[in-house]
Amino acid sequence: MSAKKQTTSSPKKSPAKKSELKPLAAKPSAKIPKPSPPKPAHEGYAEKWSLHPGESLRRKRGISAKEQQARAKHPLVISQDVFESPALRSKAFHADKDCLIFCGDVREVLGWLREAGVYVDCVVTSPPFYGQRDYGVAGQIGFEQTPYEFIAKLVEVFGDVREILQTSGSVWVNLGDTYWNGRGEHRGKDSKQDARRFGLRPQDRRGDGKLCKNKQLLLLPHRFAIAMQDKEWIVRNDNVWVKPNPIPDQVADRSCMSHEYVFHFVTQRFYFYNRVAVGRKTTRGTYMPPADTWEVPLSKGGTSHKASFSQELVRIPILATTPPRGIVLDPFGGSGTSLLFAKSHGFRSIGIDIKEEYCEVMRQTIRSNLL
Ligand SMILES: C[S@@+](CC[C@H](N)C(=O)[O-])C[C@H]1O[C@@H](n2cnc3c(N)ncnc32)[C@H](O)[C@@H]1O
Repeated sequence: MSAKKQTTSSPKKSPAKKSELKPLAAKPSAKIPKPSPPKPAHEGYAEKWSLHPGESLRRKRGISAKEQQARAKHPLVISQDVFESPALRSKAFHADKDCLIFCGDVREVLGWLREAGVYVDCVVTSPPFYGQRDYGVAGQIGFEQTPYEFIAKLVEVFGDVREILQTSGSVWVNLGDTYWNGRGEHRGKDSKQDARRFGLRPQDRRGDGKLCKNKQLLLLPHRFAIAMQDKEWIVRNDNVWVKPNPIPDQVADRSCMSHEYVFHFVTQRFYFYNRVAVGRKTTRGTYMPPADTWEVPLSKGGTSHKASFSQELVRIPILATTPPRGIVLDPFGGSGTSLLFAKSHGFRSIGIDIKEEYCEVMRQTIRSNLL
């Protein structure tokens, strides 16, 4: 036993004198190259996890943990001067004191916001789902060759979002799933499915026979959330949006899909959360948190956008995680649902969309004041 212990103990703990150690340390290492020890599978993790996720962001912004905790309760929102800066206005499709709309690729516009010193408090968005809709614009997300590329692209976008997110901020992402189809281009006639069955979608191709095979539900929402965790995001909830009136799937051997996810991500342990605004009041006057299943009917449309949010879907995200006069960002703004909800509750908002037609719809939505 004792012999074994000695061989495994480190040189520091060894009882040997300094003079005895010298020759051993100097010569062999100079002549015989030491074989490098096998790399542990978790290499990099020890270093990565020695920091609390979010610590790096705080350090970058020069904020102490204590300060972060105070900020989470009373976030400092950015000034109106920054929001209305001439540099931003000159690039905006629409600008007023409460709302900015930008037409362009999401990552390019996020760069403009970063350069202007904008920090947003709440991000609520529904990116394009994989292979579900053709928005007909070069550079659109959703038509990547593989689901892996799609997820990598989305995670990159949210990496850029993080650069302009307050440390007390939250990101809410609505994502639905996709079945791999693998049967080539759709030729049948079905008017209900026409908006979704166009040309050769990525999931109509043959696939790799592994993840991408005929009839496979790709589980993209959770693959995305896990990829976000790998980039140090903290997942607080995978809220389920239950649709009481789904568009029926034309299938005979599985259930009809009637839910999507709304993930809540943060970067820090302490973040702004107004539980009174969204909680369920008990008879004793205390507040229970909202449930993580939300039964919300599909949006009635009303604009030319084919995939618009329902106002009810953005209620909890915006009311819970936007401080007074805070900024709500929707980086895939579409018809401007999040912007309208934000505006009608006294928050400022920023919308981005790659398609000019939708930027115009967004502008009309916020002008309509309908809620
Ligand atoms: C699911 S829709 C968003 C719908 C929105 N939540 C609403 O309530 O109307 C996704 C939007 O992302 C936009 N989009 C796609 N690729 C984009 C990109 N690279 N940059 C910015 N917007 C993009 C599309 O034009 C589309 O309007």
